[in-house]
Amino acid sequence: MSASEKGTGRNSSRMDVEGRTVQHSATTMSQLIMPHQANRLGNAHGGEIMKIMDTAAGVAALRHAHTAVVTARVDGINFYHPIKVGDLITVNAFLTFVGHTSMEVQVEVIAEDIIAEKTTHALTAYFILVALNEQGKPTKVPPLIVSSEKEKELWERGKRRYEMCRSELMAGDDNYRVCREEPAVPRHGR
Ligand SMILES: CC(C)(COP(=O)(O)OP(=O)(O)OC[C@H]1O[C@@H](n2cnc3c(N)ncnc32)[C@H](O)[C@@H]1OP(=O)(O)O)[C@@H](O)C(=O)NCCC(=O)NCCS
Repeated sequence: MSASEKGTGRNSSRMDVEGRTVQHSATTMSQLIMPHQANRLGNAHGGEIMKIMDTAAGVAALRHAHTAVVTARVDGINFYHPIKVGDLITVNAFLTFVGHTSMEVQVEVIAEDIIAEKTTHALTAYFILVALNEQGKPTKVPPLIVSSEKEKELWERGKRRYEMCRSELMAGDDNYRVCREEPAVPRHGR
């Protein structure tokens, strides 16, 4: 690491690349839902599904950033379709947008009833992960190379969500402190 790079968290393995494609980091994970992951009705606990989604998003972000990553935010988790014991879930995670140190990962969950040969798109959500350097501080990630029309469209949508997150829409909510320019004011009585 050169003197000018000290403290920036950059290193050659990550930052000497012009960028990485969406395919480079795209990740698929599958898991059979077991009884211990479900309630009495045989429906998978939401937390079980979220855990595998978070893991897949983390692997995709790690493959892109080549440094430690943490989940900063999750948007859009809605369980419209129950996932049952015995279903095979396949989780597809791929980057849609990168900022400076943050990455948006789209995570889709497909549930398959193997016996009935029926697949259901159970849900899609967006995970924002932040790359960290050795000091645990946010560090720059390589650019994301988007080439297909679909990837370009997803990039534009991700960019809009990124900009919206930083806009005044969330300025009144302390929970979105990081999306604001000014520091959070501690709430009283907590
Ligand atoms: C995420 C974290 C590293 C951000 O640290 P920070 O010093 O507040 O970071 P910054 O304000 O400099 O923001 C860094 C980037 O993260 C993004 N970001 C941080 N928090 C975010 C949030 N809640 N939603 C969306 N984006 C967020 C910022 O927009 C910025 O993106 P950019 O660099 O691409 O422009 C820090 O809040 C943290 O460590 N959180 C705990 C993470 C964790 O432990 N997760 C596991 C679940 S418990």
